[in-house]
Amino acid sequence: MRIRTFEEYQTAYRHSVEDPEGFWAEVAQEFKWHKPWKKVLDWNFSTPDIKWFVGGKTNITENALDRHLRELGNHPAIIWEPNDPSEPSVTLTYKMLHDQVCRFANVLKRNGVVKGDRVCIYLPMVPEAAIAILACARIGAVHSVVFGGFSAQSLTDRIIDSNCKVIVTSDGAARGNKNIPMKDTVDDALIACPSVKKVIVLTHTRTAISMIKGRDVWWESEMKQVTSDCPPEVMDSEDPLFILYTSGSTGKPKGVVHSTGGYMVYSAYTFQNVFQYEQDQVFFCTADVGWITGHSYIVYGPLLSGATSLMFEGIPTYPDAGRFWDIVDRHKVDILYTAPTAIRSLMGFGLKYVEGKDLSSLKVLGSVGEPINEEAWNWYNEHIGKGKCPIVDTWWQTETGGILISPIAGVTKTKPTYATLPLPGVQPILVDESGKEIEGNGVSGNLCIKYPWPSIIRTTWGDHERCRQTYFSTYPNLYFTGDGCLRDEDGYYRITGRVDDVLNVSGHRIGTAEVENAINMHSDVIESAVVGYPHDIKGQGIYAFVICENTLDDEDLSRRDILATVTRIIGPIAKPDKIQFVRGLPKTRSGKIMRRILRKIAEGDTSNLGDTTTLLDPSVVDDIKDGAL
Ligand code: WT7
Repeated sequence: MRIRTFEEYQTAYRHSVEDPEGFWAEVAQEFKWHKPWKKVLDWNFSTPDIKWFVGGKTNITENALDRHLRELGNHPAIIWEPNDPSEPSVTLTYKMLHDQVCRFANVLKRNGVVKGDRVCIYLPMVPEAAIAILACARIGAVHSVVFGGFSAQSLTDRIIDSNCKVIVTSDGAARGNKNIPMKDTVDDALIACPSVKKVIVLTHTRTAISMIKGRDVWWESEMKQVTSDCPPEVMDSEDPLFILYTSGSTGKPKGVVHSTGGYMVYSAYTFQNVFQYEQDQVFFCTADVGWITGHSYIVYGPLLSGATSLMFEGIPTYPDAGRFWDIVDRHKVDILYTAPTAIRSLMGFGLKYVEGKDLSSLKVLGSVGEPINEEAWNWYNEHIGKGKCPIVDTWWQTETGGILISPIAGVTKTKPTYATLPLPGVQPILVDESGKEIEGNGVSGNLCIKYPWPSIIRTTWGDHERCRQTYFSTYPNLYFTGDGCLRDEDGYYRITGRVDDVLNVSGHRIGTAEVENAINMHSDVIESAVVGYPHDIKGQGIYAFVICENTLDDEDLSRRDILATVTRIIGPIAKPDKIQFVRGLPKTRSGKIMRRILRKIAEGDTSNLGDTTTLLDPSVVDDIKDGAL
């Protein structure tokens, strides 16, 4: 399972393409299965219908916890670093984590959760988030984690879409010097969610909250009512493990569904190989468990590998911009996995926050979530890795479940801004607009994958047709990623960014249509158009062109009203960076907004707007350029 040299990578890759089923069967054998699979893979990309380890029975928590108890029972599974650095960190050994997961699984059962039920998890970055996730998996409930930064409305939409029966939350969350009212948000969300019968509330910030009789129960008192005896539910390899909502180019976020066996095998395989994790190393992934990176590389991948996963509650700039380096120093972190936006932001604070911190424990650095620019790559390499830590620029998506294109640390020769080569089992191809394969090197096109890997998306919750339409219909018999990509002379891949209407703001994925819908909720707004523009720290910023009904007395106040509306509907992460009020939007005669033109204007490049003759009213473009209303 372990690749140690570039030759071994090449051999593994060849094997995985020539005999994918044989290759993955070998990897999967390392796990505990209650019943072996009858067939490794059954698939078609047209329906689509993808099954891995068909007929196999397993439980992912048995593989992530029980399997390690004998040898690693007293080894740290999770190290938790609180928001406030003066508070003590917490270490949970595998034995302790196993105990807590089994107990909380019994709490879920006590509160009416049975196999197949959906449980919403809306928690801060505390060990209980991992415990709740694993407790669901223990009993075969499907978890749907919602990032704590989403609004009550977003939470409502997600709970309703997957018909969750129970929600797990906390009184509040500590982020920097802010106290986020988690339970209040849940209370607001639940006004419109009749499916939720129970709310399990963790005491964390000890904020005063409402507790509703018959519906709301405390985590701590529930845990006292149960034993730690909870045998793992035997799951089919294709039983859904979790739902995670993500934005697309149209409509509401969709619930990406990952299933049990394939996700288990792939998250562990990629964790061990990409980062070259060695027993007893400390792995620090700075993502939130509310995103796929947290699912696969804070919780499942590391724990399935018997690793020590460091979980950090706070933010990189609290109490100051040296916090990550302080954590690396104090916990002797071996592997750090973070996002370019964090690197760029910390870079901006200068080296004084890095100096004096002992970073000599670091061996591997990772990057994820968005393209990493050369300057950030070099800074990360020089000042954090001190020129001796390989950087793995890992490309993947919520839908892919695990890393698909990435260097293998210390094995693959890296090149700044390149995700380099596909991992074993991954068969990327570039296609042109018509879907024709672009062969050879030194080319660019739309990135597709032509063969399934074990943790590929299985469906979108409650709407299989949407899954087909979104990922498998643009190019027949290919999985379409939505990303543009370049393959250089060495065959190295460089992801250039989304080719659809999806923005990547500080590594957060946001659909332009979603932001427009939120802006349009404002009572004064007639119509809006949202585009991305290059932003020094966030990667992309959000630029909104907005038509209002009335002439505005106070533009600035109206801007703030719109921001408040977006925060209410989606959450603060979707707030536009710039709002420009306009008289009209550039539309074609068929009524389609020409985003190409708006993107140019947002970028500040109005010199060459291309052909505007097909516009219904070309004069609106001049008005927008001039900032005229
Ligand atoms: C989109 C997926 C993968 C977990 C976090 C984001 C962009 C992701 C890279 C990278 C360039 C990247 C892509 C992708 N992206 N990693 N290393 N280089 N772009 O997951 O929220 O589903 O977003 O993030 O555009 O499609 P996500």
